[in-house]
Amino acid sequence: MEAFIKGIPKAELHLHIEGTFEPKLMFEIAKRNGISIPFDSVEEIEKAYQFDCLQDFLDIYYQGARVLLTEQDFYDLTYSYLEKCAEQNVRHTEIMFDPQTHTERNVEFKTVISGILKACSDAEKRLGITSLLIMSFLRHLTEKEAFITLEESLPFKKHIKAVGLDSSEKGNPPSKFKHVFEASVKEGYIPLAHAGEEGDADYVWEALDILKIKRIDHGNKAMQDEKLVEEIIRRNIALTVCPLSNKALQVVPDLQNHPLKKMMNKGLKVTVNSDDPAYFGGQVNQNYLEIQKALHLSKQDIYELARNSFEYALLEEDTKRKYL
Ligand code: HPA
Ligand code: ZN
Repeated sequence: MEAFIKGIPKAELHLHIEGTFEPKLMFEIAKRNGISIPFDSVEEIEKAYQFDCLQDFLDIYYQGARVLLTEQDFYDLTYSYLEKCAEQNVRHTEIMFDPQTHTERNVEFKTVISGILKACSDAEKRLGITSLLIMSFLRHLTEKEAFITLEESLPFKKHIKAVGLDSSEKGNPPSKFKHVFEASVKEGYIPLAHAGEEGDADYVWEALDILKIKRIDHGNKAMQDEKLVEEIIRRNIALTVCPLSNKALQVVPDLQNHPLKKMMNKGLKVTVNSDDPAYFGGQVNQNYLEIQKALHLSKQDIYELARNSFEYALLEEDTKRKYL
């Protein structure tokens, strides 16, 4: 099974580039930028990665991102992730980035996106991996601040496929971002959002009906509401599920109680992803492997999950055909 999971071509659809920041690279970049971090060793950092909830994790994740300053930093971060994709037979990846985490520290939007894009372009040439970018708004900030980010993104519009919504979910419902999502769609961006990770099913309804999203990041809590499940199926919208993330942030008590197989049985279109692999204990193949073991998934299930990852990618139909 391990060889089967490793060998099957797959796409990753839910991945935060800032969440791929491995402790070793964090130390290297902190050193070259002369920034101190509150840890003395890689082991100490890893020990700090124990989370009770999403907010616990976010506090550490934003702390780590503080050392990223230059285009080279964003290049190194991204290229290092893309090399891991190559090792795992991830052929296509849809990378989320959080511009506001950097612009609020006076790192320019252009610096962030230029480093990421250059790494993606080199990885396509050298490793044969295709990628596209999803610009995520931070939901703990205001809609007005999201509008500023939207404005800053426009010179790079042709390099950004979609907008997303991430960070602290509870208390920051999708409806808070109605207008900026409408404006983003007018600019040609595809609307996506995290919904139903910690927030209840009504947040997923809002993401569908108010933000008009085309894919749901996480979506676990949709299982609370039978009508919602039916509606997601009716709209042919996929869920980008992240098992190890759900375990690490205690969205599920353990993987044996993860709803992934129940979702598939209901007819939901599910994909498997790593979310923030440096923080949650595994890359995408590890997510497949651990959820397979916990839920006794068959090879046919794995095939369906991998196939969905291409079917529900944001690629043009003719490009998609190459993978299916
Ligand atoms: N949820 C919300 N925001 C995030 C996450 C997540 O899992 N990872 C990075 N930002
Ligand atoms: Zn996420």
